[in-house]
Amino acid sequence: MPVPKPMRSRRAPYDVAGRWALITGGSSGLGEAVAHELARRGANLILVAHDPSKLAAAADLVRRTYPDVDVTTHALDLADRDARSRLLETLGQGPQVDIVVNNAGVDWTGPFVTQTQTHLSELVNLNVGAVAQFSKHYAREMAERGEGVILNMTSLGGLFPLPYHAAYGGSKAYILSMTEALAYELHGTGVNITAAAPGPVRTQLFERGGMRPIRWRERLYYRDRGWVVCRVVEAALDGRRLIVPGLFERFLAFGGRLIPRFLQTWIAREIVRGVPITPAE
Ligand SMILES: NC(=O)c1ccc[n+]([C@@H]2O[C@H](COP(=O)([O-])OP(=O)(O)OC[C@H]3O[C@@H](n4cnc5c(N)ncnc54)[C@H](OP(=O)(O)O)[C@@H]3O)[C@@H](O)[C@H]2O)c1
Repeated sequence: MPVPKPMRSRRAPYDVAGRWALITGGSSGLGEAVAHELARRGANLILVAHDPSKLAAAADLVRRTYPDVDVTTHALDLADRDARSRLLETLGQGPQVDIVVNNAGVDWTGPFVTQTQTHLSELVNLNVGAVAQFSKHYAREMAERGEGVILNMTSLGGLFPLPYHAAYGGSKAYILSMTEALAYELHGTGVNITAAAPGPVRTQLFERGGMRPIRWRERLYYRDRGWVVCRVVEAALDGRRLIVPGLFERFLAFGGRLIPRFLQTWIAREIVRGVPITPAE
């Protein structure tokens, strides 16, 4: 009698109910949507962002929507390394953090040579510095206890050079490469680390960075944040190393590798092309 083959067992998704999730940039856009998705699944939340009033409003909305979930907030500048270190110290005295979502980011747009040094430093310290510091801190802690989930928000733009978002694209390439390498190092430790690389999503990111998307491009290419976040959170809890939500985005991400780099650069530029917002607006 032939011996039946054992069923290929897919690892069960990480159960977040009753656990604590730290979400940077949890007060708006993708971070806020991740907060709601994790709260819906029963996780308690630690929301971190810069603006205290926006943060308080975001936390209140989660509490009203999911009354069984605990939500705490920390308002600080995540681009400031000392402030980040103080936050990690404070959080170390609280409940165990099992899910970390490194999401806060800025995208100062425009010609690279006209960027102010203040904006460039903020971008690098936030988009790269905070993600590296928190990934290192929590990956070590989680590996020691043999479980945990880290979700690092990179971008489809991390796969291509992004003219007029040059520093942003570079920071996202850093996160993507670091996260995938770290996933390799963490294999077998029980820690899931995922890089999420969405294409353009309707949030405040671009306006804050000084650019308004062109209407028809926005309608054609920009995704709804709820749709993106559902896929991203599911992938992270399933332990996938990389998630590029959307068929068109996956076609660009993987098909794009087959065409010359200058053409990739041109396509990326066309997709995120926008209109600069003048200071008076
Ligand atoms: N939107 C897209 O098309 C897109 C596509 C791919 C990837 N992403 C990535 O998704 C992430 C979230 O972006 P989003 O589109 O949701 O942007 P968003 O709506 O502008 O949200 C950014 C979040 O980051 C926080 N933040 C910004 N600077 C901070 C600082 N110095 N210290 C602490 N918190 C800070 C903001 O809080 P405050 O308001 O308090 O500053 C806000 O909560 C980013 O990493 C972005 O690169 C976005």
